[in-house]
Amino acid sequence: MERILVIGCSGQIGSELTLQLRNMYGNENVFATDIRQAAKDITDTGPFYILDVMDEKRLIHFVIRHKITQIYHLAAVLSGNAEKIPLQAWDINMQSLMNILELAREVEDIRKIFWPSSIAVFGPTTPRVNTPQITVMEPNTVYGISKLAGERWCEYYFNKYKVDVRSIRYPGLISYKTEAGGGTTDYAVEIYYEAIRKRKYQCFLSPETTLPMMFMPDAIKATIDLMEAEASDIKVRSSYNISGMSFCPKEIATEIKRHVPDFEINYKPDFRQAIADSWPQSINADVAVRDWNFSCEYDLGKMSSVMIREIRKKLA
Ligand code: SER
Repeated sequence: MERILVIGCSGQIGSELTLQLRNMYGNENVFATDIRQAAKDITDTGPFYILDVMDEKRLIHFVIRHKITQIYHLAAVLSGNAEKIPLQAWDINMQSLMNILELAREVEDIRKIFWPSSIAVFGPTTPRVNTPQITVMEPNTVYGISKLAGERWCEYYFNKYKVDVRSIRYPGLISYKTEAGGGTTDYAVEIYYEAIRKRKYQCFLSPETTLPMMFMPDAIKATIDLMEAEASDIKVRSSYNISGMSFCPKEIATEIKRHVPDFEINYKPDFRQAIADSWPQSINADVAVRDWNFSCEYDLGKMSSVMIREIRKKLA
């Protein structure tokens, strides 16, 4: 029987993945943790604890006491925020991962680890269109450097200690349940909220900045599919490219206008423009398709209909 620890259950991914895991493995077997209080649907449906992944002593006690067999480590400082506190972000992103990898090496009961990487591992010298799984990687953001280093460590722990760690390079993730915090792709979440609240949005990226994106249900499905795959099928132990859709602010604004006809957008690029300009525009996911059947359902139109409908309900 699996007993799953989710670290970062209050975040954008964790708030949805935790509930999905509870559906699959039973509420009482999914231990939600975060450094901040979780939403009611998390605390009402199963165990929730305040836990700091940086506190390795408490972490190991927790894992042993609750007989944890799988860990989803979702806590991180995202790209925009990391540029404001580079050394702290490096410390948090790296040390937390090392704590988890060491734990997995030491505690025999732990069978599997999930750790998210990002399109931020790529940099200005990477081919920007249909970026392959294996390519030039020279990230120039703190977040990207920490994710690339993390990928290298994951592969190292698999090769050296047989730690079954699995990872995905998420594109920008779009969802209506929990807003992201401090990322560069977050504009594509904010824009829906502002369209419904105020019918206008000031975008911190320029109109033509195309980035790879994915709707949360596709990201959750990909994560579960990867974690459910046979270990022998997982040929990539750094992190897998996956791909949903690609669009720029101008295109998402046009799509939103179909639902909110008087929506207006204006542009005031800030420091995050340089981050976006260093990232790919689209991603090749052939290797994930080959190894564990990665698939994805939503395009910009289909996602926008759901986003608008759900945010309208939420704000009503
Ligand atoms: N969405 C993330 C960010 O913008 C990229 O992984 O930081």
